[in-house]
Amino acid sequence: METLIPIINRLQEVFLTLGAEIIQLPQIVVVGSQSSGKSSVLESLVGRDFLPRGSGIVTRRPLVLQLVNVPPLEERRKQDNGNKANARSGIKAEEWGTFLHCKNQIFTDFSEIQKEIEEETDRSTNNKGISPEHIYLKIYSPNVLSLTLVDLPGITKVPVGDQPEDIETQVQEMILSYISNPNSLILCVSPANSDLATSDALKLAREVDPDGRRTLLVVSKLDLMDAGTDALEVLLGRVIPVRLGIIGVVNRSQHDLNTQKSLDDSCKDEQVFLQRHYPSLASRCGSRYLARTLSRLLMHHIRDCLPELKTRVTVLTAQYQSRLNSYGQPVEDHSATLLQIVTKFATDYCNTIEGTARHIQTSELCGGARICY
Ligand code: GDP
Ligand code: NA
Ligand code: MG
Repeated sequence: METLIPIINRLQEVFLTLGAEIIQLPQIVVVGSQSSGKSSVLESLVGRDFLPRGSGIVTRRPLVLQLVNVPPLEERRKQDNGNKANARSGIKAEEWGTFLHCKNQIFTDFSEIQKEIEEETDRSTNNKGISPEHIYLKIYSPNVLSLTLVDLPGITKVPVGDQPEDIETQVQEMILSYISNPNSLILCVSPANSDLATSDALKLAREVDPDGRRTLLVVSKLDLMDAGTDALEVLLGRVIPVRLGIIGVVNRSQHDLNTQKSLDDSCKDEQVFLQRHYPSLASRCGSRYLARTLSRLLMHHIRDCLPELKTRVTVLTAQYQSRLNSYGQPVEDHSATLLQIVTKFATDYCNTIEGTARHIQTSELCGGARICY
């Protein structure tokens, strides 16, 4: 199962590099109102601090975040012996990140990644403005599952700073452009201390996924509920049922962030909180359970998409082949050559995926997810 996701991730990278939506590949998109905890949820999935978070509108451009599981440094060193051509052989870090907009730079300091996201956000937006232009970040680590996640600006009603009057519509359109992709899993984040029935995230998700086939609900801020209330009814799906599941989490508070509480400590405290307040649901809640659920859903999703993916690649191959033929003998047009290479790459990998998928049983998909923290 672990060989399947890296293949999809590589394909996606190639297509994004080309700047073309040639094939829509599965990804997980985080949706919620401003400050509902979207960036915090993503960070707990990655297990590292690197996303700008805080009160107010912090995430102002879509961030496409590709997590890549790599072997630990020690193992890579051994593998790289005698294979000097390996692109990763020079990297001495256990975990690192790269951005598409500064390809040759390797970030090993995660606070630098956070700074670069902030600076790159400012490069194309002004005072609190938003932009639909995505930032593409890849994080390599032995401690992550191979997943692609998209962090989006939060749903907001009232313009601040230089935001346009129609900020609400602009953000909604941006969100819809990601979640209307039928190959996206929609991760709605709603805080436990606000009414779920008015959740804008769920409303948007329902617009594009009325049957709830690809919508999952994360209830954040369980720790911030009024005394005497709890989220049990919500978590059990009795308020609003969500087909793929409802998972409660406790992320770090603003105070925790200010005092630099570690994600590890936060995860431990989350477990303690869940055991104390929701003993019957503790094993089906929390950040770790969320990560495991997502990886399982993603695998099922990829498997379901394979036939369609294969058809599209075949059609594209035929199209580009006939275009190539029309160029006559020697092809000097590099863009055509590049597309040909990509198409060949995609076809080869689809065949590999199919081969792999045939051997995957649903039971393995559920049990085989490896979570490392
Ligand atoms: P986003 O705007 O949806 O990306 O939300 P952020 O992740 O930036 O979080 C907004 C604020 O809420 C930050 O100050 C977080 O520390 C805080 N926060 C997020 N999740 C929780 C939670 O589960 N409990 C508490 N107490 N605070 C949280
Ligand atoms: Na925020
Ligand atoms: Mg955010």
